[in-house]
Formats: sequence, structure tokens, C-alpha cells
Amino acid sequence: MVDVLLGLQWGDEGKGKIIDVLTPDYDVIARFQGGPNAGHTLEFENKKFVLRSVPSGIFHNEKINLIGNGVVIDPALFKAEVEDLQKSRQQLCSQLKISKKAHLILPTHRLIDIAAESAKGEEKIGTTGKGIGPAYTDKISRNGLRVGDILENFKEKYQIAIAKHKKMLAQYNFSYDLPQLEKPFFEGIEFIKNFELVDSEFYINQHLAEGKRVLAEGAQGAMLDIDFGTYPFVTSSNTVCAGACIGLGFPPQKISKVFGIFKAYCTRVGSGPFPTELTDIQGDAIRQNGNEFGSVTGRPRRCGWIDLVALRYAMMINGVTDLIMMKSDVLDKFEFIKVCIAYELNGKRIDYFPFNINKNIKPIYTELRGWQQKMNNMNKERDFPKEFSDYVKFLERELKAPIKIISVGADREQTILR
Ligand code: GDP
Ligand code: IMO
Ligand code: MG
Repeated sequence: MVDVLLGLQWGDEGKGKIIDVLTPDYDVIARFQGGPNAGHTLEFENKKFVLRSVPSGIFHNEKINLIGNGVVIDPALFKAEVEDLQKSRQQLCSQLKISKKAHLILPTHRLIDIAAESAKGEEKIGTTGKGIGPAYTDKISRNGLRVGDILENFKEKYQIAIAKHKKMLAQYNFSYDLPQLEKPFFEGIEFIKNFELVDSEFYINQHLAEGKRVLAEGAQGAMLDIDFGTYPFVTSSNTVCAGACIGLGFPPQKISKVFGIFKAYCTRVGSGPFPTELTDIQGDAIRQNGNEFGSVTGRPRRCGWIDLVALRYAMMINGVTDLIMMKSDVLDKFEFIKVCIAYELNGKRIDYFPFNINKNIKPIYTELRGWQQKMNNMNKERDFPKEFSDYVKFLERELKAPIKIISVGADREQTILR
């Protein structure tokens, strides 16, 4: 069977940390979409790692980590990431498998991403600049190159793709140095050949037939999904649960649990609607307490209160069975904590996530008392302050699902399983 873990907000919920915590229960950890736009942070034994394309189960020996067909890979960034990890994990090469059907991010995809963003000016999406959108565009328009393509006549295929991209880049007033990017790219291509390149659909289904347990690791979050997120301010893949079947090649009946992960508040990086955003000192306090700066780009994350309207929407699409609440400790100092329970639109109360999320949407809040105690050192539920237990109970009642894991700090150990 397959369990799926995915973000319910706009990314950076803490997926990496929890995948690492859950890995001992599984045989295979598999990324199913996204690429190096992701930054999944893990902390243990006073060490901190940020993973981009490598699944977050990699720190457990004997566990297979698979990069699925739904992922887009930048060979240069992949090589840099793996080489960094190999300083502490020698056997990584045999643990990590890559789908032949995963698409490649070419240097020109990155250039097109950056050029298109700057041409948009004020309307920019605020992408990570990693070429994600252009790589998925080529996949869908049937112009992409896949990992399996590196095994035969790759240079020829590459030149054909690059010629198209050069024409696209000529439309922008944008100067670039392609040879400088191509050197690490081709080094990355050679590096990928050190790994077992697999057909992820056969690979996963064979493991499932043998009774193995698979944990599918989502990147980004439901509100950044290309179909259901706050379009066009989204990423270019299906981040939701159904994306796991597509991005790995297993049938939907194999899904058992769906872990939906969220922060005790909410953040977003880049442009786009965010109804509960706080642009005042409370937002600054969350950013400081939660160290809310992007793990990929270093950009300050926009911060706000938890939004139950958006969370319910995300839970509906994903069929969440188990909730996971992260970064509870970040709210330690607040006397009162607000929870958005509905929106007001043109003077009317609505409790669904509407097509158009614009400036007319106003959050309706309920206020709960803060716990004003440090949570970081708590490792048992019975230590919880009453106000914190009330917060958890309130969310469970409103979201109609159990919160099975509570995180009270960045370290692997600062995790309470219920
Ligand atoms: P991901 O992309 O979903 O894996 O999340 P990120 O790694 O981008 O962002 C989560 C950040 O919060 C990382 O810096 C984590 O180390 C940190 N983090 C995770 N859980 C907790 C927690 O419970 N408390 C605090 N204070 N930090 C946490
Ligand atoms: P993880 O997996 C938060 C956001 C970008 C931008 C939009 C599109 O670490 O949670 P893209 O480069 O994908 O075309 O950018 O999506 N974004 C993320 N925000 N966490 C992420 O990943 C993100 N990946 C992309 O900021 O708004
Ligand atoms: Mg992240």
C-alpha cells in the first residue's frame, strides 16, 4: 500500500521533517512531482540539511528513495545536492533510484523562467527561478527531454530542444551566457548515469505486489496545485494526492492513508492571494519566531493566521485521513491566536473557497487564548498547556479529522505522535 504525505497550504509546511520521522515505517520513499523549487529541511543530531530533489527518506539506511516520473530534474543542481549529501552518506548512490520518465530541466528552461518573470513586471508569479514552469510546459507540449534520453544520442536531442528555446529567448530583452550554464549541466548528465535509472511504474508496482510499504512525498502544497491552487499564482504540477498516482504510476486503489500537513498558522512565498496575511507587527513576529525565510531563495515568507476555509478545501481534494500540525512552538508568545473560520464576500458570509480570491474577500476570525508557554521541550501530550490542547481540539472539530502528529521544533526529536 501507499501512504501519501502532502502540504495543505502554500508549501513549506514541514514535509521534509515529517517524511524523515515516518520513514522507518516504510520501504520506499518516493517524490512524485515538483523539482528543485522544493526545499525540504531536516534537522537531527545538531545537523541541518535542505533537500531539493532527493526524497527526504535518504537519511535512513536500507530505505529506497525514488525520484518519480512526475518530477523535473535539474542535472547540475542534482549533482551539487547529492555531492553535498555524500559527504555524510556514502551509500547514497545505491539507495537512490531515478525514473527514466522524469523530465529534465535544461539550462534554457531556467533562462526562460527568469526572462518570463521579469517581463511580467508587477504581475510576476514570484517563481523560484528554477525553470519549473518551462520544463513542465515542454512536457505537456511534447517537446521535453527525459532522463532516459541521456542514454542515447543525447547531444542531438539537446541541440534540437535548445534551438527552440533560443527562439523563445530572442523574444525577451534578456542577455545570457549559455555555455557557462551548459558545463555544469553536462557534468550533471554524466553524474546521473551513476544511478539506477528505472521505470518507476514497474518499480513501484513490483514493490507493492511484494507487500512493501511506499510513502509518497509531495512537494509544494495543495494551494499551489496547477488545477486547484490560486491560479495563476501556482506551481506547474499537480501537488494534490491524485498527482501521486500520476507521478509514480500506481493505481488509486493502492492509496491507504493521506497525511495532510499544515502549520499552526500560515505562510506563502511569492505573489498571489493570501486572505489571512498579516502585514503588521504580528506578521513580523510570526516571521521572526518561525524563521520564515525561504529555504531555496532566502526570501521572507509572507505570514498570517491559519485559514480553515482553505484547509477544508485542500482536505476535500486530497481525501486527508490524518492531519499533522507543525511549528506549534512559533505561536508560544501570543496572548490570543486567531483562526479564520469563514470569509466575508461583498457583505455575505461564505464558508467555501471561491473561484476568485481577490481583495473583496475578508477573513472572519474566531479568537482563542494563547498558551504563552514554551512548547519546544514538550514530548508528551500530558505536558500540553490547557490552551494548546484547546487549540488542537478546536482545529480537529472544525476540520473533522484527527491531528495525529504535533511538531514543536525543527529537530526530528521534537515530534509528538498521538
Ligand atoms: P517543507 O518544504 O514542507 O519541507 O518545509 P521547509 O523545510 O521549507 O520549511 C519548514 C521550516 O520549519 C524548516 O526550516 C524546518 O526546519 C522548520 N520546522 C519544521 N518543523 C518545525 C517546528 O515544529 N517548529 C519550528 N520552530 N520549526 C520547524
Ligand atoms: P516546498 O516543497 C513554497 C512557489 C513559488 C512561487 C510559485 C511558483 O519546499 O514546500 P515555481 O518555481 O514552482 O514555478 O514557483 O510556487 N513555490 C513554493 N513555495 N514552497 C515550495 O516548495 C515551493 N515551490 C514553489 O514561491 O510562488
Ligand atoms: Mg520548503
